[in-house]
Amino acid sequence: MTVVALSGLRGGVGTTSMVAALGFALHGLQQRVLMLDLHPRNLLRLHCNLALDATQGWATADQDAEGGWSEALLEVVEGLYLLPFGRLEAGALTALEQRQQARSHEWTQRLQQLQAHFDWILLDMPASLPGAQPGVPLLPEPVTRIRVLEADAACHALLSTEGAGEDYLLVNRFDPISQLQRDLLLLWGERQPHLIPLVIHRDEAMACALAWKSPVGHYAPDSLATHDVRSLATWLLAQGAQG
Ligand SMILES: Nc1ncnc2c1ncn2[C@@H]1O[C@H](COP(=O)(O)OP(=O)(O)OP(=O)(O)O)[C@@H](O)[C@H]1O
Ligand SMILES: [Mg+2]
Repeated sequence: MTVVALSGLRGGVGTTSMVAALGFALHGLQQRVLMLDLHPRNLLRLHCNLALDATQGWATADQDAEGGWSEALLEVVEGLYLLPFGRLEAGALTALEQRQQARSHEWTQRLQQLQAHFDWILLDMPASLPGAQPGVPLLPEPVTRIRVLEADAACHALLSTEGAGEDYLLVNRFDPISQLQRDLLLLWGERQPHLIPLVIHRDEAMACALAWKSPVGHYAPDSLATHDVRSLATWLLAQGAQG
């Protein structure tokens, strides 16, 4: 089993859309996949046709019954599963954060429990801030970490000031018409050893897929973004084969 943690270099770069799209693409390659939402905004569920007012999720179930987190697991289609975050009121979210700080290895144990059932577990994580990250649990090692970013000046500034350590970098919403984006991609290709050697293009199909409440590969199987994400899935499989 491979755990892949996806988070944005900053917010809004398309991390949640990528988790849904990549999960669907890996499933299409006959892999058993779990998409797990660790973002309190609980938006991953909307890529899997759950209702806007659906409240089920691991955090909600955990609150109702100790150890009830796994009861919120949903089968999207055979072999592709979703574990939503759920909906918590502000007070309950604070309590969850405090508990996670006290029991920081909780998710390590839970992922170990899940590992026999899946080839891939994809984690939708919040974009990180420098320093402390309240509410983000410790993850087991080894975990493949992918930072999603856009080829824009804000991400370039963040890469230059904060860096991304050993994390892979995945460029999303790439627009080849933009001179700035082309230049940044070229520059990062020279300077960033962990830049994934493919991009996900800006594609209206990706935005429409969310409006349709499905992963892009399901909504638009022949779109450019679907093709890109399939390449990413194949690349990840190849990394696993090498590792
Ligand atoms: N390649 C793409 N082309 C066009 N639109 C995209 C692409 N990727 C993502 N989007 C759109 O960008 C918006 C933000 O995406 P998403 O919610 O996945 O970002 P996020 O990084 O998870 O945000 P947050 O930091 O709030 O969790 C959505 O409307 C999504 O459809
Ligand atoms: Mg998100």
